[in-house]
Amino acid sequence: MSGSGPLELIATAAFGIEATVKWELGRLGYRAKVESPGRLVYEGDASAIVRSNLWLRAADRVLMVAGRFEAEDFDQLYEGLRSVPWKALLPNEAAVTVRARAVRSPISSPRSVQSIAKRAIVDSIAGRGGSMDESGEPVVVEVHILGHQVTVSLDTSGDGLHKRGYRPRAQAGQLKETLAAALVMICRWRRDEPLLDPFCGSGTVAIEAAMLASNRAPGLNRSFASENWPMVETNLWTTEREKAASKIDTSGIAPIVGCDINPQTVGLARQCAHNAGVEDITEFQLRDYRQTQSAHNAGWVITNPPYGIRVGDVDEARQIHRDLPVILSRLPGWSFGIFLGVDDFEQLIGRRADHRRKLYNARIRCTLYQFLPGRDPKKESGPAFSVSINESLAETFRATLSKRIRHFRRWSDRRGIFAYRLYDRNTPGAELTIDRYADHLRIVD
Ligand SMILES: C[S@@+](CC[C@H](N)C(=O)[O-])C[C@H]1O[C@@H](n2cnc3c(N)ncnc32)[C@H](O)[C@@H]1O
Repeated sequence: MSGSGPLELIATAAFGIEATVKWELGRLGYRAKVESPGRLVYEGDASAIVRSNLWLRAADRVLMVAGRFEAEDFDQLYEGLRSVPWKALLPNEAAVTVRARAVRSPISSPRSVQSIAKRAIVDSIAGRGGSMDESGEPVVVEVHILGHQVTVSLDTSGDGLHKRGYRPRAQAGQLKETLAAALVMICRWRRDEPLLDPFCGSGTVAIEAAMLASNRAPGLNRSFASENWPMVETNLWTTEREKAASKIDTSGIAPIVGCDINPQTVGLARQCAHNAGVEDITEFQLRDYRQTQSAHNAGWVITNPPYGIRVGDVDEARQIHRDLPVILSRLPGWSFGIFLGVDDFEQLIGRRADHRRKLYNARIRCTLYQFLPGRDPKKESGPAFSVSINESLAETFRATLSKRIRHFRRWSDRRGIFAYRLYDRNTPGAELTIDRYADHLRIVD
């Protein structure tokens, strides 16, 4: 870090999201360069720390570079770290924790890096062998080693930027807020297009879309580690927060709807939307995705259906994936961004995506498959998904029959009745009867 020059900052992000964060930084007025996977470097003054933390939707953290040097062994690492101007950088009595990461480096033990870095910082501030008062602000120092190149930085964010403050509790299978925001931005959804998430869970996609649409800074309702640092004047935070609050605009936003089959999850989504300040521009409904419909001719479905790794079992998830084209064909003119942790979705449904992007959800390698209308190679234009009436009917018939089988199985087992009418013309267009006689079925068309 040079004395009076611009600050060097790094926005970190999940693999695959770098281009989105670069675009976001560009919109904030910063020209960023991808330094290595998941790390974007840019320059700015102290207000860049504040604005990046308040406004970046897809980044994980904002780091301020304190020094860069080369090190091939622990002695060089210690000397490099000790020469960083820690006294000028750290708040008084900072309680320093070191986070270490080494990739393709001879210095491979993160634990040793942590203890050497801590020793070097204390020696630099208190003199060799001294000790320092750490009763003040917690500060995380990151030591990132790539080959021989060491980058030392201070974490200006504190909690990861995905922690917007609107989730009261974590729930299995939830998307990280930063990833959900990235999905919406990668799809290039616009605020004047309806958005539907038929597997909304706790509503992350819809809420992030609503925050984006209303120009609500994602960091408005939380605090950041660097709020009391010497190089960032306190009133900068106040001014930038006020500016951000004045930019919220909820007018002219098309419907943003999330649906889920689980009532508790729908309740949680509503609560999260309320906490995020977007309850007036989102709607959450209890609905099986098989009932998906919309009065709008165009829009975006952006969703992450169950993929059987983290929520629900594999067979059920696969069945949902197989059925998706039939259900989504009810929305001609719509575009689809389907985020799944499976590689063979296109083979399964027999349809190639118009775009696909590899991304990581926690440690699970996932793909965002985009299907756009008017791209059917056999036609000049047309819906993203289309199926014949018979296929659609077959799906409804299959769903109805499965439901009745589940219902009658419980009932007949309890009562010991093994002869009954399983299906009685229950689906218009599939007017047949099915009777069960123990291990036999009698089907009459
Ligand atoms: C991977 S999770 C979605 C998580 C969500 N993106 C979030 O961030 O919380 C999949 C969701 O699909 C829902 N689901 C499963 N079967 C469904 C069905 N038949 N219709 C609608 N939703 C269903 C589950 O209840 C679960 O909330």
